[in-house]
Amino acid sequence: MTQIQIHPSAGYVGAEISGIDLSQTLSDTELEQVKNTLFEYGVVFFREQTMRPEDHIRLAEQVSEIDINRFFKPVDGYPKIAEVRKEPDQTVNIGSMWHSDHSYDTAPAMGSILVAREVPPYGGDTVFASMYAAYDHLSDGLKTTLEGLKAWHTSSGFAAPADKEIGDRLGGQDRVTPDVLQNVVIKHPVTGRKALYVNETFTVGFEGWTAEESKPLLDYLFAHAVKPAFCYRFSWRPGSVAFWDNRVVQHLAINDYHGHRRLMHRITLKGVPLQ
Ligand code: SIN
Repeated sequence: MTQIQIHPSAGYVGAEISGIDLSQTLSDTELEQVKNTLFEYGVVFFREQTMRPEDHIRLAEQVSEIDINRFFKPVDGYPKIAEVRKEPDQTVNIGSMWHSDHSYDTAPAMGSILVAREVPPYGGDTVFASMYAAYDHLSDGLKTTLEGLKAWHTSSGFAAPADKEIGDRLGGQDRVTPDVLQNVVIKHPVTGRKALYVNETFTVGFEGWTAEESKPLLDYLFAHAVKPAFCYRFSWRPGSVAFWDNRVVQHLAINDYHGHRRLMHRITLKGVPLQ
């Protein structure tokens, strides 16, 4: 049997796992290792995989129920898989601002599994930032201020995407739900570690604060959360897979490959309301 190996990718976030074939059902031991590494490092990477969409769905369902994203166009024939596509003639990509998937839901998606289907000849990397590190590096004073504070998260940006081009790949006024409150500092449901939980795409203000009052502190937290030391930049190759924990990381897709196609398949996994 191939030995499972775990190689940390950076100081605070990400680990590459080798010795696991994702085209097969994971054994209990493999599943435990993947989950434990995911919860500790925030995102796990796999290389040189040959997963069919059926394998992608099976892997996801071994971890949790699938939480179908209501805004993304699904992959033809696979309603549980969201398509993340940018064509050579398109200029705008999906996910170009820092975010945590589904933070606008009462029970945000616990994780997301992204499989590279077609990668550009260069660029198109995804950057991950550790929200454990972001929290740990706040001063004790600011930690005290944030403890017990809640922030509003909104899906309203999907109602009418500013850009018509992206509107064809995302969107839907009828699927926007009321804004939700999330704790600014969450406790990971499995590790019990604290993590910062605000992101520039979906977080719009603190509970009981005006927009004007919220903005300076939110801007500070958005910038602090993604300091380079807390980040890892992942370069995709054919057969690459990334599986991240939305409670531990934020991510951003770099849009630097105009004139080339990038096609990814994403599954989001059901989570629980955050504490
Ligand atoms: C996403 O925001 O989930 C997509 C990330 C990517 O395409 O790299």
